[in-house]
Amino acid sequence: MRVLFVCLGNICRSPTAEGVMQAVVAEQDLDGLVEVDSAGTGGWHVGEPADARMRRAAERRGYDLASRARQVDPHDFERFDLVIAMDRSNLRDLRALVEEEPENLHLFSEFLPSGAPVDVPDPYYGGEQGFEDVLDLIEEGCPVILETLVARNVS
Ligand code: 4NP
Repeated sequence: MRVLFVCLGNICRSPTAEGVMQAVVAEQDLDGLVEVDSAGTGGWHVGEPADARMRRAAERRGYDLASRARQVDPHDFERFDLVIAMDRSNLRDLRALVEEEPENLHLFSEFLPSGAPVDVPDPYYGGEQGFEDVLDLIEEGCPVILETLVARNVS
């Protein structure tokens, strides 16, 4: 089972989703069964570690964000069971990479309770609270995404 999270730069939101999901996978003893990755629609930060502000906020909650940024590739739609865009802009950019709507492409907030924000807000140009908000939304959605992934693979 493979899940890919995609944001704009791959240095704030999607590496956080990757790190939190890895922790949820480990908690549920699914290590080795679920592969988690992240990518950016843009290529500006390729090779860089996650943003230091994001890493610090994640570390305070016990997550180690170890990934390096990479740019998404159209082949990712074939490699991953679920491709999850963090906001609607990321979703549009992903759709533009392929001719037909991929059946495995989703918006992160589809896995959040109704009333939650539609977009996981980009924290890059904002203050500290933005990074906490990203973590709150991601911690809420990841267990639901894992449940969905597992259910798809046992049915
Ligand atoms: P991310 O945040 O998409 O959550 O990684 C951003 C990181 C960098 C930039 C924008 C958003 N940037 O403009 O460089």
